Amino acid sequence: MLNNTFALKGTFCYSKDPQNLIVRENAYLICKNGISEGIYDELPACFQGIPVIDHENKLIIPGLTDLHLHAPQYTFRGTGMDLELLDWLDTSAFPEEARYADLDYAQKAYQIFTEDLKRSPTTRACIFATLHPEATLLLMEQLENTGLKTMVGKVNMDRNAPSYLKEQDAVASATATRQWISDAADRHFENTFPILTPRFVPSCSDELLGFLSEIQQEFHLPVQSHLSENPGEIRWVKELCPDSLFYGDAYDRFNLFGKDQCPTIMAHCVYSTEEEIALIKKQGVYIAHCPQSNTNLSSGIAPAARYLREGLHIGLGTDISGGFSLSMLRAIADAIQVSKLRWRLIDPSLKALTLPEAFYMATIGGGSFFGKTGSFEKGYELDAVVLDDSSLPSPRPLPPLTRLERLIYLSDDRNIIQKFVCGNPIFSNTEDR
Ligand code: GUN
Ligand code: FE
Repeated sequence: MLNNTFALKGTFCYSKDPQNLIVRENAYLICKNGISEGIYDELPACFQGIPVIDHENKLIIPGLTDLHLHAPQYTFRGTGMDLELLDWLDTSAFPEEARYADLDYAQKAYQIFTEDLKRSPTTRACIFATLHPEATLLLMEQLENTGLKTMVGKVNMDRNAPSYLKEQDAVASATATRQWISDAADRHFENTFPILTPRFVPSCSDELLGFLSEIQQEFHLPVQSHLSENPGEIRWVKELCPDSLFYGDAYDRFNLFGKDQCPTIMAHCVYSTEEEIALIKKQGVYIAHCPQSNTNLSSGIAPAARYLREGLHIGLGTDISGGFSLSMLRAIADAIQVSKLRWRLIDPSLKALTLPEAFYMATIGGGSFFGKTGSFEKGYELDAVVLDDSSLPSPRPLPPLTRLERLIYLSDDRNIIQKFVCGNPIFSNTEDR
């Protein structure tokens, strides 16, 4: 449908800014060459005769961006959650990730993940694979075929990891990364792109971070990693990097922290210090707030409302499988819930996130890492999710924002009946209903 013009008809809910959720009932959203031409109450004369996909009474929202998740960990989601981060990595994450040396296993596991992601409310995602280049390429191929827009990282880890899941040294890790970038380029993907992925400071030597910095500057790739997630991890980073002023400084020393044409996502930022927050803001680092993971791994509650209200770039992540749910609608609900606990128990001066704020983070907030995406305003790339709430009957008609709120708290994948990325249909459940 690319290079084509069509209209979606339905009731639209979307953000322009974090304060206001806009509703347009029974309106037409025009899509031209994958880009929104805006929303109209009536089909304008110049668009008469274009195909109209009529979703009548359905709600249509912008596609959601999952700014942080681990594809290989999808296999054990919902298990092993009695541990904190470092023990959980040793017990659950590392042994499972080691299995992806076996391409048959990777093929099966990533197929399950990819199919579920396709049917979720997510249209864009920044994804960690494992340290294995071949399995990472396989994941990229599968994601490419879904039509979703993704950034995928071959993970780098050359220290403080079990021998069965560690690259031999910094040179081996950098060499494998260069080969993976070259192999990915040869495949001419249109939807799936590489992102440099040093796992976190404890698993990357200074030498390796130095090599990754060179690679970043050579190929202009974005970067994703973890930051200030859990107390035990933060103590460890202090021991490992006595010269760093704070955790984020250990990345910044190697120019892997936002500035100088280095778009960067840091997951968590639960315990970022004032200095760290100032550098995140100054250098435009994106924060991936992962409330469900931070709860499951007993990490804590990030001051997400503060970050948003102070103008930092912040989106939401599921952090599969620190988080167990792949649903970004659920991530919106979780972000609101934990912000209420934080307000009540930790900081009475920081009011809880509102629904429009959390919705903004899941749409424009994270989506802007990909460019102009996450809204239906004219000029945005047209990613849309069509939601059917007929499985949630009500004895009286409900206003659109109430219907959206119920779907955020109560929906599952059955409520998602169609999805578009850049105007292209990704899947449709409409025939089944
Ligand atoms: N820090 C380093 N690796 C990981 C991981 O796989 N998950 C989470 N939540 N934090 C990490
Ligand atoms: Fe993570």
